[in-house]
Amino acid sequence: MNAAHFEEIKERVRSLQSEKRFRHTLSVVREAEYIAKMCAFSEAETEKARLAALLHDITKCFSDTEQAEMFEKYGITEQSEPPTAHEKTGAYFARELFGDDIDSDVFSAISCHTTGKAGMSALDMAIFIADFTEETREHASCRYMRAYLHTECERICAERKKAEELLRDVTQRIIENTLGFLTLRKRKIDLHTVEAWNFLAE
Ligand SMILES: [Fe+2]
Ligand SMILES: [Fe+2]
Repeated sequence: MNAAHFEEIKERVRSLQSEKRFRHTLSVVREAEYIAKMCAFSEAETEKARLAALLHDITKCFSDTEQAEMFEKYGITEQSEPPTAHEKTGAYFARELFGDDIDSDVFSAISCHTTGKAGMSALDMAIFIADFTEETREHASCRYMRAYLHTECERICAERKKAEELLRDVTQRIIENTLGFLTLRKRKIDLHTVEAWNFLAE
């Protein structure tokens, strides 16, 4: 994808997001680029990571009613609660807007960026992690995870095998954090998150 086309997509995303959400989006793009570089992603993978990061929250600013309408429109049958519904609608909406730019890898990374899922790819994990560790996130758990990720990224010297292990490790740590957060507050747990946990705990 050439730079001009990426910029066009960026402007479209900007028009659909609040200023704060767009700042987060750009920060996720930067963090995904960093992860891709440190984890020895190929050029093609890096391009997918940048695009998925740019689009991951494309429907985040839509209302619960709009999310529900999109579930209907796209025939999405998966169970999803309001805080995570945007990952599913986002993937379909991005594909509707940008067609062939959204291949199955990018679609997948958008559609599991909040909950995770079984069988996550390196790209899925990179976006999942970047969403949590990007620098505008100030929560203590995000700061901790960012420091951990960056230290470990320096340590592995872009060795692909170690990188895959690191992506799994950090994804698992984030899910552990999420499960702790949800169970403490007696909140529902998305089944994809349980499946992601079981996949990583194998
Ligand atoms: Fe999101
Ligand atoms: Fe996000």
